[in-house]
Amino acid sequence: MSGVARRRPLGVVTRGTTNPNRLRRVDNWIVATCADRLSAAADPLVVDLGYGATPVTAVELRARLAAGVRPDVRLVGLEIDPARVAAAAPAADPPGLTFARGGFELAGLRPVLVRAFNVLRQYDESEVPDAWRTMTAALAPGGALVEGTCDELGRLASWLLIDAHGPRTLTLAAKLTTLGSPAELAERLPKALIHRNVPGEPVHDLIRALDDAWQAAAPYATFGPRQRWLRAVSRLRETGWPVLDGPSRWRQGELTLPWPLP
Ligand SMILES: C[S@@+](CC[C@H](N)C(=O)[O-])C[C@H]1O[C@@H](n2cnc3c(N)ncnc32)[C@H](O)[C@@H]1O
Repeated sequence: MSGVARRRPLGVVTRGTTNPNRLRRVDNWIVATCADRLSAAADPLVVDLGYGATPVTAVELRARLAAGVRPDVRLVGLEIDPARVAAAAPAADPPGLTFARGGFELAGLRPVLVRAFNVLRQYDESEVPDAWRTMTAALAPGGALVEGTCDELGRLASWLLIDAHGPRTLTLAAKLTTLGSPAELAERLPKALIHRNVPGEPVHDLIRALDDAWQAAAPYATFGPRQRWLRAVSRLRETGWPVLDGPSRWRQGELTLPWPLP
């Protein structure tokens, strides 16, 4: 970028663990709920920050957005580790998919959407607010950051949607056929929440209430885990939790609430 002083990428290199299809839950949610932001954007630029040892999840996000939202989406995978940027080069497919070195400052880009998954997990909780501020300050007007965590295979996941005003929603998502109990999601909360699953914290109350609703919905297990989840989420709403969306999202094994939690 001529005339622009190149800043050192903000952040540190962390473990590069990733897996094909690991981020399908958050990707499907992004396609369903962030389509308007992308469709309205003059420049449909998306950043996948911290794609890891291989760019497979960046390739998948671009494909899902191109198929589900708009074919001219431009995805830039940013990594702070130069070796991982070099390793990703053969997967590039410009102009729709490119890779570059960058950190929380987003390398001077102004994307409408940023997905940062399993990146902040390896930072200290005290570093999270600054990282959010730095990323959201770089967004295009009306843009959003989706920041979250999942397990190795993407069966348990959670994420926050964050815009210029701060976090707006929290989503929990699970593969229902392998879910023992919603309490398992506590281990995969975003970094800002993972140490908050203790009595007196709203996220602890939420996971307890969801677990109680899941237990109460046990008779529905006869009809399969999806019916049980649908019943549990409905019950959560009936008991006063401001559950967002409706059955079409819930049946994916999702639960989204406004942030901050009540
Ligand atoms: C565990 S991998 C996550 C890979 C992929 N996002 C996933 O969820 O499967 C985390 C990656 O984030 C990168 N990373 C950490 N901090 C970063 C930062 N500030 N900017 C860009 N990349 C960063 C690390 O170098 C590492 O490759």
